[in-house]
Amino acid sequence: MVSVLRVCQEGARLAGLLLLPALMSDPLIRVSHLFKSVQDSSGTLDILRDIDFTLNPRETAAIVGASGSGKSTLLSIMAGLDTPTRGTVWLAGQDLFTLDEDARAQWRARHLGFVFQSFQLLSHLTALENVMLPLELAGETGARTAAREMLGRVGLGQRLNHTPRVLSGGEQQRVALARAFVVQPDILLADEPTGSLDHATGAQVMDLMLDLNRERGTTLVLVTHDSVLASRCDRRLQIDAGRLVPA
Ligand SMILES: Nc1ncnc2c1ncn2[C@@H]1O[C@H](COP(=O)(O)OP(=O)(O)OP(=O)(O)O)[C@@H](O)[C@H]1O
Ligand SMILES: [Mg+2]
Repeated sequence: MVSVLRVCQEGARLAGLLLLPALMSDPLIRVSHLFKSVQDSSGTLDILRDIDFTLNPRETAAIVGASGSGKSTLLSIMAGLDTPTRGTVWLAGQDLFTLDEDARAQWRARHLGFVFQSFQLLSHLTALENVMLPLELAGETGARTAAREMLGRVGLGQRLNHTPRVLSGGEQQRVALARAFVVQPDILLADEPTGSLDHATGAQVMDLMLDLNRERGTTLVLVTHDSVLASRCDRRLQIDAGRLVPA
């Protein structure tokens, strides 16, 4: 009996060892044959055409390309904030568009952080309340403590009770990063996170984002027009008129 058990245990261990590399190499993000078209006054506008790529856990990628090439549209679809005309987005094993809108919003709250060029903080809430909000919406306990710690981590421990109006642009973006990271997302999507900041402040925000990314094992996709920032990511995804082209 004991030996049968041993054989079973050994078999399970071997199966685990064989499975482990396969699981570890599974992409965290899989965008497959993604198309987005809209109707406008002059007919059909093809914004995204057959976008196809994968990213591994912890990878960092910069989406680059000319203004109007489709970068923000791609990021919005990856966040489930916009829908594709065709194609699929798998994030952390979830096929995003098999979920209805409510389920997608719930999934997003648990797995995704999003950072915008314009910070998008709620102006009537303090820095602390802004960072507490996603935890409270998710029904988490200990929101105040976690938010306070997170704001300390981004260097704003002395600015907890300030509203966005009295914070500098760099400080507001650090609050937005704290708000995005406090839920410990698998994936952080950022649309021109340094686009409203001067070069030095933008570089500091980028340092912080990459540090948090490494510390917390997040997979990061950011849109940027800044080639220096893009070069700090593992991958460059170059978009030209809605198509991925060699970087
Ligand atoms: N809902 C919509 N209806 C019509 N046109 C749209 C819509 N959404 C996006 N577009 C158009 O699709 C193109 C791509 O827009 P998108 O915002 O993705 O560009 P972008 O690469 O992020 O540009 P930028 O670098 O200026 O932010 C643009 O020409 C835009 O005007
Ligand atoms: Mg854009």
